Amino acid sequence: MDHVLEKIDPRHVALWGQHTVKLRHTLADQEMFSDESIAGLIDTVDPSHLKIETMPDDGYDVRAWSSCDRTGLTGMQVLEAVRNGRIWIELKALEEIDDRFADVLSSLYGELETDLPFKTFKRKLNLLVSSPNARVFYHFDVPGQTLVQLRGRKRIWIYPPTAPFLRPESVENTVRSVATEGLDYQEWFDDYAEVHDMEPGDLLHWALNGPHRVANYDTLSVSLTTEHWTPQVRRSYALNYGNGILRSHAHWRPRSQATTGAAFWAKAAMTAAWRASGMQRKQSYRWVPGHRIDPDAPNGVQPIEPAEPAAQAQG
Ligand SMILES: [Fe+2]
Repeated sequence: MDHVLEKIDPRHVALWGQHTVKLRHTLADQEMFSDESIAGLIDTVDPSHLKIETMPDDGYDVRAWSSCDRTGLTGMQVLEAVRNGRIWIELKALEEIDDRFADVLSSLYGELETDLPFKTFKRKLNLLVSSPNARVFYHFDVPGQTLVQLRGRKRIWIYPPTAPFLRPESVENTVRSVATEGLDYQEWFDDYAEVHDMEPGDLLHWALNGPHRVANYDTLSVSLTTEHWTPQVRRSYALNYGNGILRSHAHWRPRSQATTGAAFWAKAAMTAAWRASGMQRKQSYRWVPGHRIDPDAPNGVQPIEPAEPAAQAQG
């Protein structure tokens, strides 16, 4: 693959990892991001790689998002519903199943790691396709990440990764997959946000765990998101995992956010033991579809009627 990134300046090197960096890329016109190609992916990927959601027109509560079932529809029909509705699709970890995406991911990180001060040991590439005016509510992500805009325009608000925008308890609950509540969001947070308009050809990277929310302009949006793990991301994960266990099971208030030193490594060891014990699996959260894709319905989705309660066994 030809060069993916345009020029990286000394300022980008200085800012990388601590602050938001906006770069330019050359991927937007590739055939692999056309409607035909995306519809083909929707038709063929294993369901474990496909996540379809819808969201209400207003409010900020991530719990109001609802998973969508697309049984019986072709990829093109699903895309049509996205174009006219209020739908967000994520095709996850495409590098695992499609050589074109594996190539994009390795080229992109090859160039980033050549010119910028970081090294990753795990990377993932997701394709996002979302409706005109669709919104992603206030949240944060655990790994390091980039947003790569390909088609359409969106605005992203990025907030500092510290209280009150992001409380330590929220990070701990999320890394342990016990949280289903959204982060607390107040409209005045926007006074402290960085606002970036993403056009085709833009790539954005921001400080680890920085909370963000997104609103599409009146255009269908196609983007890539990458997730990456570095030694620093892994240390932060282990620290938050350990602090979360202590906070919820030992009635202890973690004071240390240090990612070096004996206290940190004790927590990291406890994290590994806890995960191995299987406790974590029992507490993780599951999603159930609440809507069905329907290209003819308003917003492109129909609510699924709650299932009849199963007949109770006698006696
Ligand atoms: Fe995100």
